[in-house]
Amino acid sequence: LFLDFGPIIPSIPYILKGIGVTIQIVAVSALLGFFLGIILSLFKISRIKALQWFGDAYTSIFRGTPLILQLMIIYYGLPQIIGYEISAYMASIMAFGLNSGAYVSEVIRAGIEAIDKGQREAAMALGVPYGQMMKDIILPQALKNILPALMNEFITLTKESALVSVIGVLDIMRRSYIVGGEHYSFFPPMLVAGVIYYLMVMGLTLLGKALERRMKRSD
Ligand code: ARG
Repeated sequence: LFLDFGPIIPSIPYILKGIGVTIQIVAVSALLGFFLGIILSLFKISRIKALQWFGDAYTSIFRGTPLILQLMIIYYGLPQIIGYEISAYMASIMAFGLNSGAYVSEVIRAGIEAIDKGQREAAMALGVPYGQMMKDIILPQALKNILPALMNEFITLTKESALVSVIGVLDIMRRSYIVGGEHYSFFPPMLVAGVIYYLMVMGLTLLGKALERRMKRSD
């Protein structure tokens, strides 16, 4: 039989241990990307030309090159600049966080720009300082509107995280590949990995829907 799960069943717990690794990388880099995205989006809508330029150049570079390349440059190249090695895990979090920030900044910028001009004008007329206006008035409304897009980014990161297997991080993908190699049979462990990723994405989808519902209630 070309699809015999029998021999790999004892290896399933080994593959399942990758879930924690994958979740950690996704969670930390999503958080990093989110805060970076806020900062970059504020740069992009700033009146200061140098900040605008930096924000746009940043997104252009991280969106314009393959993520796998960014991952390898950070893992193999960065140590030559800073003088010491970094773990594959660290390199993964950095690459995914920096990459995500580029995409998220565009999402947040669009979210901010969609908030009615009147909100800004009213805040300014009331003498609310710029920083406080952003933090307390504009960003909370923007974030609510872009929640679906942010969940989308979460899902993208979860799936793209399989790339970290190429630098040796023992995530779901890497573990499945190793099990395949040990049994000279890749089909069954790859299907196991597929089911795990799919269930994770479904979990995120449900979480996103629940969050959306809760936010709607406060309207
Ligand atoms: N597959 C894309 C690449 O190789 C990665 C896209 C990352 N997207 C994101 N929303 N963070 O470049």
